[in-house]
Amino acid sequence: MTTFNTDLHDRTALVCGASQGIGLASAAVLASLGCRVTLFARDPERLGEAMAALPVVPGIEHDIAVADFHDPAMVLDEAAGAIDRAGGFDILVNNTGGPPGGPITEATGEAFVKAMTAHLVNNQNLANLVLPGMKAKGFGRIVNIISTSVRCPIPGLGVSNTVRAAVAAWAKTLAGEVARDKVTVNSVLPGFTDTARLSSLFEAKAGKLGTDPGRVKDDAVASIPMGRLGEAEEVAAAVAFYCTPAASYITGTVLAVDGGRTPAF
Ligand SMILES: NC(=O)c1ccc[n+]([C@@H]2O[C@H](COP(=O)([O-])OP(=O)(O)OC[C@H]3O[C@@H](n4cnc5c(N)ncnc54)[C@H](OP(=O)(O)O)[C@@H]3O)[C@@H](O)[C@H]2O)c1
Repeated sequence: MTTFNTDLHDRTALVCGASQGIGLASAAVLASLGCRVTLFARDPERLGEAMAALPVVPGIEHDIAVADFHDPAMVLDEAAGAIDRAGGFDILVNNTGGPPGGPITEATGEAFVKAMTAHLVNNQNLANLVLPGMKAKGFGRIVNIISTSVRCPIPGLGVSNTVRAAVAAWAKTLAGEVARDKVTVNSVLPGFTDTARLSSLFEAKAGKLGTDPGRVKDDAVASIPMGRLGEAEEVAAAVAFYCTPAASYITGTVLAVDGGRTPAF
């Protein structure tokens, strides 16, 4: 009999950038499928509130971990504690705050180092931490929240475009190396999604253009075939699908969740 298996009971997930936005929405969907989740970000108070609002999994307590993703040693240390408390992670969602916007001609070398550390170095360190357990179990899911800019660079996001492409290449390479261990590695590419990150980008662009953020938002919406911003929950649905048993034969892929905006296959 063919089944569409989305059951994540007895599974554990480390979800990064999970105190709000796409990370939190992803954690909530995973919890709704029965998964025990650890929410990882900087602000313990916001994390505590987010954890308290997660769907309840009977007999399971969700958890939080606190670190600044600009400090990879702290991230590893906290993640190691969280992995002990969880008894291993079956799912890793790599995600953190996006780099500041701005043209590449105005970016400093330091901005690249910072963004590469927050996005790529932590991904590698966290993967190294969780992979032995995933391989031993014969089940693992690594999902990276990146951006549609890996298909079409977005003007005005110079550092971000560059770092996202590096993360996509990293994920594809890793996917091939761990495929026989039944660990999948995939990436979700959010389009314009209605979160704090997007509001701050609209505000920054409006400040630069001397206009108001509402107009910048209207222009953004006009570029989306569906005629609206995405919701964090819509991106989270794609993240969660990649994590399910049903997605067992999908690896090394990227999935845009962008209302049709990216002008490429
Ligand atoms: N929203 C969009 O339209 C869109 C489109 C394409 C790509 N993306 C990318 O998708 C990712 C998630 O976006 P989002 O819209 O959900 O962003 P968001 O609402 O700003 O949420 C970012 C999350 O990351 C955490 N975070 C930020 N900086 C951190 C740091 N230095 N260390 C640890 N945690 C940190 C934040 O929590 P704390 O502040 O508590 O640490 C928060 O939980 C970002 O990389 C973003 O650039 C977003």
